[in-house]
Amino acid sequence: MTTTSNNDSDINSLQVADDGSLRHLLTIDGLSAELIRSILERASAFLAPPDQPVIRSSALAGRTVANLFFEPSTRTRASFELAAKRLAADVLNLDVSTSSRIKGESILDTIYTLEAMQADVFVVRDAEAGVPAMIARHVRPGISILNAGESSVSHPTQGLLDVLTMQRSLGDVRQLTVCIVGDIAHSRVARSTAAVLRTLGVGELRLVAPPGMKPDATWFPDAIIGESLSEGVKNADIVMALRIQHERIKNKSELPGPDAYIRHYQLNEESLSEANANVKVMHPGPMNRGIEIDGALADGPRSLITEQVRNGV
Ligand code: CP
Repeated sequence: MTTTSNNDSDINSLQVADDGSLRHLLTIDGLSAELIRSILERASAFLAPPDQPVIRSSALAGRTVANLFFEPSTRTRASFELAAKRLAADVLNLDVSTSSRIKGESILDTIYTLEAMQADVFVVRDAEAGVPAMIARHVRPGISILNAGESSVSHPTQGLLDVLTMQRSLGDVRQLTVCIVGDIAHSRVARSTAAVLRTLGVGELRLVAPPGMKPDATWFPDAIIGESLSEGVKNADIVMALRIQHERIKNKSELPGPDAYIRHYQLNEESLSEANANVKVMHPGPMNRGIEIDGALADGPRSLITEQVRNGV
């Protein structure tokens, strides 16, 4: 794999053009608050009321969007496909399991092949850190790479949709206390959502990480990191649960077992009793009901989970 520097400033100069517009979307780190606000405003303009037909546009007519998911996905992949179709793009969903990747073709040769077929945008999810930026360094000018989930490093569109959902439900994030609970160490969602919140000046961000799931604090400047859910949720306006990323955890010896996890870290009405009376609950999905979140809470009036999915498109 020819991954080169993943220095934040290198990646940002790759994704942001000299005129300040976005060439690629690789990471939230380094994006200005102004640019993030403009993306969120533009996304809001495409949100029809739930009982109205979807909004369509010809903004991408004549363009081709290729979805390349080298890791499983339901929400992100479906969102990119639907969004591209609603913007009148041609859409290619490469079935990785039956593609020539299985015969050993490299990811770059896969990209070059689709480039020759005049794909303009590549939406990429990969288990390896650095892949979206590596591809962005190799494609022709005018081609865009959108990071749809990169190892445990980055999931920028999830960060954007999470904060869009918070804003639409509760207003300016500068007035909000947000708590994220669960497997922070292995969560690309936590990193990207925290980066959007930090850039927009969130009131307070608390991260509650069980043993074995505590992150490197340098990834989360300004956040309060602790182990106690009752402290983390105190007077919080929004609490977001994360799935345990079993597929990324190498050392499982420190992890709490399922019963201890449910007792100490599950989001349910009881564990939220000290949160703000109007607390809203989020989860990026996929959920493990009955583990990190109680099913009734996920389906109840506090939940913004369906809105997250809708706003993701
Ligand atoms: N939140 C998220 O990335 O979900 P998927 O893995 O289903 O895309």
